[in-house]
Amino acid sequence: MESSPAVQQRANGTRDAFRQDVLNGLAYSAKRVPSKYLYDKRGSELFDRICQLDEYYLTRCELEIMERFAPEMGQQIGPGVMLVEYGSGSSVKTRYLLDGLPDPVAYVPLDISDEHLHQTARELAPDYQAIEVLPVCADFMQDFKLPTPERKPTHTAVYFPGSTIGNLNPTRSARLLGRICQLCGSGGGLLIGVDLKKDVRRIEAAYNDREGVTAQFTLNLLRRINRELDADFDLEAFSHRAKYNEPRGRVEIGLVSHRDQTVHIGDETFAFAEGEFIHTEYSHKYTIDEFAGLAAGAGLALHRQWTDKGENLAVLHFAVNDAH
Ligand code: TRP
Repeated sequence: MESSPAVQQRANGTRDAFRQDVLNGLAYSAKRVPSKYLYDKRGSELFDRICQLDEYYLTRCELEIMERFAPEMGQQIGPGVMLVEYGSGSSVKTRYLLDGLPDPVAYVPLDISDEHLHQTARELAPDYQAIEVLPVCADFMQDFKLPTPERKPTHTAVYFPGSTIGNLNPTRSARLLGRICQLCGSGGGLLIGVDLKKDVRRIEAAYNDREGVTAQFTLNLLRRINRELDADFDLEAFSHRAKYNEPRGRVEIGLVSHRDQTVHIGDETFAFAEGEFIHTEYSHKYTIDEFAGLAAGAGLALHRQWTDKGENLAVLHFAVNDAH
């Protein structure tokens, strides 16, 4: 079936943005490609598989925390809340939380993928008929407007699971936390999942699984560039690399060129030296104190903390600081 001109134009628009971001990113002396492009259809499927890997402790640990402590979190957040979730990916964690909340007014999943969002809303709504489910399609790094539920909420709280905050650098994290503060306003709060600093081998294993799913996930970016941007990356000539940079407290994820080589993207040519790195993603790790310090600077006061038994990951509850 032919797509309508409008749909076609939208597709070209995003394709152009993708092309521009890739060409710009590879023109830097330290080459990089924005991580959002990892998540095409195949990338999203591979990421779902990453979340189920033995080595990827993050998902399991956060589920363990939610399963055990969601009722305490619900009490902490309090009745009458409008809960806004950043990213509407994982309905399992969300369900634990919604089940733990006393008399919530509304649940607002927020996601950049319309499709993801509506699927989440469709799945949740029938099971939570007392809660207004009001999906919003937006990028939480940009400004957006909250919906107005029929029943007036007493306060707003943001739920930000998955340790996704770790993918931002500390400066951008602080900026996002400041935005959350403004969005929720007085009486508001934040419940956030944060991956903790720990044994380096454990961290690195989570991003270098034995099955090579993470490697496929990273390499899929080159596959996507080849397919969508008329490029000729040799997938055998690059490999996935994820290393923990201890002084900076972050995993640095990307691709390494095996040899000196040139690659064409449309009419452009790029040279890669042997050992050269294309950066795709960071994953920052924090101690609870470090993260609380970052949040305090943005106007959020740490009120409660929960961890899994192994203390790998923390779910933290912050309140908006009225004095801020
Ligand atoms: N938020 C995830 C994390 O930092 C994203 C992620 C997991 C990821 N594995 C990855 C990103 C591999 C790029 C490559 O843990």
